[in-house]
Amino acid sequence: MYVYKKAKLNIIQGDITKMEVDAVVNAANNTLLGGGGVDGAIHRAGGPTILEQCKKIGGCPTGEARITTAGNMPSKYVIHTVGPVYKDGRKGETKLLYNAYYNSMKLAKEYNLKTIAFPAISTGVYNYPKLEAGQIATKAVMDFIDKEDYIEEVNFVLFSEDNYLLYKKILDEKLNELE
Ligand code: APR
Repeated sequence: MYVYKKAKLNIIQGDITKMEVDAVVNAANNTLLGGGGVDGAIHRAGGPTILEQCKKIGGCPTGEARITTAGNMPSKYVIHTVGPVYKDGRKGETKLLYNAYYNSMKLAKEYNLKTIAFPAISTGVYNYPKLEAGQIATKAVMDFIDKEDYIEEVNFVLFSEDNYLLYKKILDEKLNELE
């Protein structure tokens, strides 16, 4: 576990649908109508109410975030965000991925949510290089905490061990720098 200002930052290897937090973040697509990967897992675990709410929302631009309840999952809410499809790193992917994390934190604050879990957005189907994506993810979250130091716990939930070890390395470097 790491501490950054008032927030505990955890890196966990596992299935985000099992997290008992105020909000789990979904790596969705612009339609918000479900898909594979973590999107598929969240819709399967949460049940049809999530898709019903998503249909009413009617989509989400890349880098923005929308919120629904979490249905049958132990968490209270799902924050659906859309990361960029990685092309070559020169099509604004960095800013869009940063915005996806930052706007998810912003939406969590609007709902006064104190604990949140993020997957590694865009690093699956959307092909984002894992190390760069992890650096962007942790920077966006820590930048938000710099601005609004209210959240109690941010969990980075990684499905694979290699991604887990990568995030550990990133935070070891970042937070050691801060000491
Ligand atoms: N818990 C945590 N992480 C998970 C889970 C899970 N249950 N399932 C998959 N992951 C991880 C993947 O290993 C990957 O590292 O989530 C990360 C994001 O991968 P994707 O789910 O493929 O998401 P992304 O790359 O952002 O692509 C989004 O995929 O599922 C579709 O509808 C979605 O079109 C959208 C696209």
